[in-house]
Parts: sequence; structure tokens; C-alpha cells
Amino acid sequence: MRRHRRYVLAALVVLGLALMLPGLASAAKGGISKPWLGAQIYFDRNLSIGGNQSCASCHWPAAGFSEPHTEHPVSEGSIAGLFGGRSSPSAAYATFSPLPFFDAKAGTWVGGQFWDGRAPDLVAQAKGPFLNPVEMAMPDKESVVSQVAASYYASDFLAVYGPNGLSTATPADIDASYHNIADAIAAFESGDYFNRFSSDFDILGPNKLTAQQQEGYKLFTGKAMCDLCHPAKKGPYAAGPLFTDFSYDNLGIPVNEEVHALTGDHSIDYGLGAALVPPDPAHDGKFKVPTLRNVALSPPYGHNGRFATLYDIVHFYNTRDVVAEGWDPPEVPANVNTAELGDLGLTEAEELAIVAFLESLTDTPPPVPPNKWPVGVPTPTP
Ligand code: HEC
Ligand code: HEC
Repeated sequence: MRRHRRYVLAALVVLGLALMLPGLASAAKGGISKPWLGAQIYFDRNLSIGGNQSCASCHWPAAGFSEPHTEHPVSEGSIAGLFGGRSSPSAAYATFSPLPFFDAKAGTWVGGQFWDGRAPDLVAQAKGPFLNPVEMAMPDKESVVSQVAASYYASDFLAVYGPNGLSTATPADIDASYHNIADAIAAFESGDYFNRFSSDFDILGPNKLTAQQQEGYKLFTGKAMCDLCHPAKKGPYAAGPLFTDFSYDNLGIPVNEEVHALTGDHSIDYGLGAALVPPDPAHDGKFKVPTLRNVALSPPYGHNGRFATLYDIVHFYNTRDVVAEGWDPPEVPANVNTAELGDLGLTEAEELAIVAFLESLTDTPPPVPPNKWPVGVPTPTP
């Protein structure tokens, strides 16, 4: 009976996903594809130790593919009470980040995944969360592969990746199967569902936004210099503007004491400098420039969630170096960018205009199957 119910549920889920996810409709026509499999995996809570967390739990579509829970600046893992030290970035538009390279002319690293670029691409990235003790906390690769092998989409998985595609017979088989799982996720993350280019900015263009947003756009690309790192024009990596050049910078963001208290880890986060092999102090304190697409949906802001609102972080850019503002010192004083931010001389109205402009970068949210909402997030009414 229980089993029967699971099959019915599974069939409904498959149908629901196939009908609801644009670009994945091919699955309904019999074309089980890598992105379709990736979608099943991305929303599958059984791939966490507590059966309570999926990739979507921390990268929720309606939250700009970022953390939907806002009680804490950083995400709680599958095991209650365990927190990561960094804020969940958006998983949208991440596919466009190039493989890491050093741009000698600009003197900066570019590309890679994570705030510190430690994974080269989405496939390498997707192998991390399942086994991270403060995220999905599965004990090993074999347990993840076994869970997928026991899922309702296992036979579809084998149809795409071959009869040996979920094997745990040898360590080499486990590695290959685990790789397949990451490969399917990356295929899903590379499609239209994540990369929608459907915001007011895309559809209306900068000249048809509200008057305040147009003012913000002028500041963003002018006096406030935001577009030096968050370009509003199409760059080399995608068909539309990404509002990131995937370079790295130290903005001088102070420690977030709340995060230190949650994790019990009081060590300094050196970012890129510590992630490089070998470590390179010339890049200490630098973090990857994030896309600003959907940024209004994903507070808090900065790699450590130090800023609760968009206004707060814009005010930081504007006044970091204004002594009277009393900002705490940077977590990593080395390599702080003082040329392009810190004392922009913006009025409060100008700060608010920039915030309004950032709100024009919100895409139409993709549909999500109602039975896939993460624990604790109320199902919104349309
Ligand atoms: C508990 C919350 C949590 C879960 C679950 C989780 N992530 Fe993340 N994700 C994060 C955090 C935090 C980071 C940033 C970590 C860092 O930079 O050190 C991140 C980073 C990423 C990035 C990099 C984005 C960028 O711009 O660099 C991608 C892509 C991503 N996650 C996808 C996934 C996928 C796929 C899964 C499931 C296999 C997953 N995440 C599960 C919290 C989570
Ligand atoms: C010198 C490059 C640079 C400039 C100029 C710049 N940014 Fe950033 N921006 C970054 C980097 C790097 C980060 C991530 C830093 C971190 O978290 O440590 C970031 C993060 C952000 C975030 C947080 C996004 C998130 O998901 O947490 C927002 C919002 C933002 N920038 C908006 C702006 C605005 C608005 C301006 C202009 C006032 C601006 N930036 C100017 C490099 C820059």
C-alpha cells in the first residue's frame, strides 16, 4: 500500500515537473534528458542525512536560487544546529562563470565556483554539498549513489547514463556514478530554468524602468562605479548582461559576529587567497563578484551575510571610509579596494535609487512543484 502510494506520488511528481518546468517539457514526450534528471536530483531531499534538505533548500527558485530562510545570515545544514560560515549565493547564472584563470593585465583571478572559486565548474561544485557535514552531511559518495539508485527516477537515470551508471561495485564505479549525478545537476543548472533573462531590465530595457530606477541605473553605471565589477552590458560569457565579471575583490567587509557565534568558528576567512594552491596572500580577503540578478530576492548580502538589506550594503559602498559612520574594520585589512568604493559621496536619495534599480533585475520566478517546498518554507499563494 505504502509502496503503491509512493509510485502514484512519483508519477504525479514526474508529470508535474515535466509539465511545469519550461524547457524540460521534452521529458513528457518521452525524452528523459540530463537536465530532467538533474531537476529530480536538485529537489530530492532523500540525498541528505536527515531526509530534510535538497539543493533547492538553500538555492530556492523563488528566492533567486538562494537561501529562502532568513532567520540566520547563513544556512543551517541537514543536521539541526550546524551552520556554514558563508551565505548561500545564487545558483542561477553560475553556469556562465568561466573556468578559473589569471587575467595578468587586470591583475585578478576570474571564474570558478563558490565565493572563493575553489571548484572549477558546476560539476565539481555539485560534488561538494552532499558530503559537506554542515550541508547535506551524507557519510560518503556510495551512500549518495545508493539513494539515487533507490529513487523513483533510477531507471530513467540508467537509461541516460548507461546500465552501469549507478554502480557501487568498485571504488572506481562509485566515483564514476557520483560524477554522473553531478553531471546531471550541472546540466539542469545550465538551462533556462536557472538562467531566465526575464527581468524588467531585460524586457523593458534601462530607459523604460521607473524614473527612480532610471536614476539608479545612471548612478550604477556612472558616479557609483558599480558596473566596473558588475557590468550592466553583455560580456564575453553569456548572451545577456550578467552583472558580474566573475573577478575577485576585497571590499573590506567586517566580520559578521552573528556567523561566528552560530558556527563557533572565529578564524579569519581569507577567501580566494587561502583557496589558491599554493595559498597566495596577494589575494587574501578577496571574494568572487556575485551576479546582481535576482539580488532583491536573496538577503542578506556579502559572503558572510553581514548586510541585512540592499540599502545597508549600498550604504557601505558609499560610506565605508567615512570615519563618522563608524564601520567596523575589515575582516582582512590586506588588499582592500580603496580606489573604487568607500566614499562615493552619494546622497540618501541616490542610494535609494540604486536600490530601486537593483530591484529591476528580478526575473519572473520559475514554477516549483508544490510538494517540493523545503521544510519550513510556507507554500506561497500565486
Ligand atoms: C545548507 C545549504 C546548502 C545546500 C543544501 C546546498 N548549498 Fe550550494 N551553496 C551553499 C553555500 C553556503 C555556498 C557558498 C559556499 C562557499 O562559497 O564556500 C554554496 C555555493 C553553491 C554554488 C556556487 C555559486 C557561485 O556563484 O559560486 C552552486 C552552483 C551551488 N551551491 C549549488 C548547489 C547544489 C547543486 C546543491 C545540491 C547538490 C547545493 N548547492 C546544496 C549552501 C548550500
Ligand atoms: C571593485 C569591484 C566592485 C564594485 C565597484 C562594486 N562591487 Fe558589488 N561586489 C563586489 C564583490 C567582490 C562582492 C562580494 C564581496 C564579498 O562578499 O566579500 C560584491 C557584492 C555585492 C552585493 C552582494 C550580493 C550578494 O548576493 O550577496 C551587492 C548587492 C553589490 N555588490 C552591489 C553593488 C553596488 C550597488 C555597487 C555600486 C555602488 C557595487 N556593488 C560596486 C565587487 C564590486
